[in-house]
Amino acid sequence: MIVVSNKKPSQFTGDILVYFVRQSEKKRAPVCSDKLVQERIDHAFELGDCLGKKEECLLIYPERVFDGVRAKRLLIVGLGKDELNRELFRRAGGVIALKALALKAEKLFLVVPEELSFPVGDMAECLSEGLILGSYQFKKYKKEEEDEKGIEIKRIGLYVNDASMVHARKGVKRGLAAGNAGVAVRDMANEPGNVWTPQAFADFGEKIAREGDLACRIIEKEEMQQLKMGGILGVSQGSALPPKLVVLEYRTGKNVPTLLLVGKGLTFDSGGISLKSGDGMGDMKYDMCGGAAVMAAMQVIAEEKPGRLDVVALVPAAENLPSSTALKPGDIIRQYGGKTVEVLNTDAEGRLILADALAYGVEHYKPDAVVDVATLTGAVIIGLGHHRTGLLANNDELAENVLAAGERAGEPLWRLPLAEEYKEQLKSKIADLKNIGGRAGGTITAATFLQEFVGNTPWAHLDIAGTAWNYTEKSYIPKGPSGIAARTLIELVRSWR
Ligand code: BES
Ligand code: ZN
Ligand code: ZN
Repeated sequence: MIVVSNKKPSQFTGDILVYFVRQSEKKRAPVCSDKLVQERIDHAFELGDCLGKKEECLLIYPERVFDGVRAKRLLIVGLGKDELNRELFRRAGGVIALKALALKAEKLFLVVPEELSFPVGDMAECLSEGLILGSYQFKKYKKEEEDEKGIEIKRIGLYVNDASMVHARKGVKRGLAAGNAGVAVRDMANEPGNVWTPQAFADFGEKIAREGDLACRIIEKEEMQQLKMGGILGVSQGSALPPKLVVLEYRTGKNVPTLLLVGKGLTFDSGGISLKSGDGMGDMKYDMCGGAAVMAAMQVIAEEKPGRLDVVALVPAAENLPSSTALKPGDIIRQYGGKTVEVLNTDAEGRLILADALAYGVEHYKPDAVVDVATLTGAVIIGLGHHRTGLLANNDELAENVLAAGERAGEPLWRLPLAEEYKEQLKSKIADLKNIGGRAGGTITAATFLQEFVGNTPWAHLDIAGTAWNYTEKSYIPKGPSGIAARTLIELVRSWR
């Protein structure tokens, strides 16, 4: 729990009292807003221990005579000397969370550095996000060691002046919502494939619809057959688990544009008959991270109720397994809307389930813009590594807005091109398309395949195969699933004009 408070820091008697300092330009000690704490910093600086560098921490145990501080510990966190930005505060929040967990601290109090020229609302928002995301743990399946039991931060206070309370409270609210969305994605992703099934996606959709003001509908296998969704049906036909298409709708009731969100919800991708190799196959339980990001974003949208936009979400959920009923290389399927696809590699399944969802969504909801999120290609890891999400779009304005939202959310993207030339690689001799385009430009040909199903609707595609897990190491990004893209989608909706 994070609360904004104007109670004096000297009154705080909890586990850690936190101050932030900047690195000085000249060879001077960092400056702290509290005089008594400053004495301690000066002393540490003389020893070379506290320079105020980015993410540097100085832990002090105040003596009883050190009046003015009643907290058990003092933590001085460096903010460096470069220009301040939102990501810096997110990372600082992450550093504090990690320290608190290591020290088994439960009650924290942070003195928001209002003396710095940076908006208090942004500081409060990003510190909150960093604290929530940085203190993430997934312990549900492991017996806890006696000394690890119940380690959890229980209460965090953010100190600001009376005049800043309103801004800080708004910031905390936004940061908590976005941070918890990232946490929700990580929780879904960490669940194993035998627990987080297509049915689990359907249950989660119904739950968030009940709790928020969303309409939820599950398109079951029988309805998919009537609708002729050959992609989702084909991919799931080797599995004993029936596929689900989760539909969530947020409506303002006003005459406003509609944004369609689509997320790949492959709850396990073995590759199917085109079986993947064994090493690292367990990671393919994360192949649902796009779907999870879309669902978590919808949960926040339901809570924040934006007034300028209706939002519809579609999450096709299925499992890709080999069996005697599975799709075979060479099979031809018919996607929703009638286009035929020669499936030459059953491991390129994401595009098949997304194509049905995109075509259905575009036809049924006539959205003004579409954004899809998917762990779609290994090729995006070759191209961009694990530090940027691949972005491909048929519309420059939408692409710019997604890039800006990612930047604000601390989830950078990099745009790759789409162009006529790439379509050649998807030509089939006997069907309208084939589902693979060869090794060259794999991320682009995958997106080019999807493009066939959105018509002229402005559309952006986020390939998160490199960032959904094994993402850039940061204080607030643990090993395992990162929770990427939910915060970008939330930011996109918040800043929609
Ligand atoms: N889910 C994978 C993509 C993936 C690979 C995500 C590695 C994260 C890490 C996707 O379904 C897939 O297998 N794609 C194939 C496509 C190929 C057969 C054209 C790939 O990228 O190898
Ligand atoms: Zn695959
Ligand atoms: Zn996949």
